[in-house]
Amino acid sequence: PSGLLSDRLGRPLHDLRISVTDRCNFRCSYCMPKEIFTNDYGFLPQSSLLSFEEITRLARLFVAHGVHKLRLTGGEPLLRKNVETLIAMLSELRTPDGQPLDLTLTTNATLLARKAQALKDAGLKRVTVSLDALDDAVFRRMNDVDFPVAEVLAGIEEARRVGLGPIKVNMVVKRGTNDHEIVPMARWFREHYDGQVILRFIEFMDVGASNGWRMDDVLPSAQVRERIHEVFPLEPLEPNATGETAERWRYRDGAGEVGLISSVTQAFCGDCNRARLSTEGRLYLCLFASQGQDLRALLRGGASDEQIAAAIGLIWQERGDRYSELRGAMQADTGTGQRRVEMHYIGG
Ligand code: GTP
Ligand code: 5AD
Ligand code: SF4
Ligand code: SF4
Repeated sequence: PSGLLSDRLGRPLHDLRISVTDRCNFRCSYCMPKEIFTNDYGFLPQSSLLSFEEITRLARLFVAHGVHKLRLTGGEPLLRKNVETLIAMLSELRTPDGQPLDLTLTTNATLLARKAQALKDAGLKRVTVSLDALDDAVFRRMNDVDFPVAEVLAGIEEARRVGLGPIKVNMVVKRGTNDHEIVPMARWFREHYDGQVILRFIEFMDVGASNGWRMDDVLPSAQVRERIHEVFPLEPLEPNATGETAERWRYRDGAGEVGLISSVTQAFCGDCNRARLSTEGRLYLCLFASQGQDLRALLRGGASDEQIAAAIGLIWQERGDRYSELRGAMQADTGTGQRRVEMHYIGG
């Protein structure tokens, strides 16, 4: 492969997001609402999961096609047994010009304090932590399993101590649920980490079909920015890379930066360079896709590296997905659309 793969809209393949489990120990209402994700929900059986060897083999082929960043997601990726073994395997991969990859994961941090050192030792570069509130009662209600915020903060602290930085913190904002936590969160992450932790505010998205999404629950990022700006003045920053999810803003007083991820009010499909590999080895070209391409069937059917690499290349070249840009039009289309993939399955 040339590394110059591009899709129908001219977008290169840059990130691969790998879901390593569809399970999670939280029940965030915007992702795995308790009423639907009960104990007898049909989570994937062990035999369906890609093995670490299978994941690493696919990742190597994606890297040969130009992928520079690997992000492990879930569900909750730290629930996958021996995930540090997988990280050690992935950390051996190199880009065609011999560079190490940006190797990271997105976690709810419930197991982070315990695992940070092992993850670092295995070769993980950095982590992103999901945290929706600082107020303990609000946080417990949002994770819906009564998990205390102090343990998440301890996880962040430990990740920092072992050098898993720069750390990003993702806050999904739901109007009327945690929007009053925006300024307290901004204050906390400004004041406690010497500008070393980047807080990002995410618009509540209509992923999947389970989370009861309504536009009324979305607080547009422009309003998030105004609320912070009133207290801690902000100014815009240039992007770090094309295709980034977050728009960057820095505090005028030099206390670091925040990010705004505005998939609803300001779609960023134009430069979207992310592919997603599900826990059972399906390749999805968009967070909002209904169907993925079954790479596991190729792996388990004895296909050669060349054949799988060629398949990946063709799939990417055919890609035309830009759901967030089309959102308005799609929602008018009632009933006929196919059920979209769920967030806990595809990993966000
Ligand atoms: P960085 O490497 O730190 O920039 O990470 P990232 O922003 O690519 O990944 P992260 O897992 O932190 O994602 C942040 C939020 O953006 C999550 O809510 C994701 O679901 C969402 N997100 C990530 N990629 C996409 C995307 O391609 N489309 C949409 N609509 N949302 C995305
Ligand atoms: N809208 C926006 N972000 C979401 N996440 C999960 N579900 C949603 C949703 N419906 C976030 C998580 C995590 C990231 C991977 O995706 O909080 O930070
Ligand atoms: Fe779990 Fe993350 Fe989904 Fe919350 S958003 S239920 S922590 S996977
Ligand atoms: Fe990429 Fe789909 Fe998200 Fe658009 S909606 S940025 S195409 S994943």
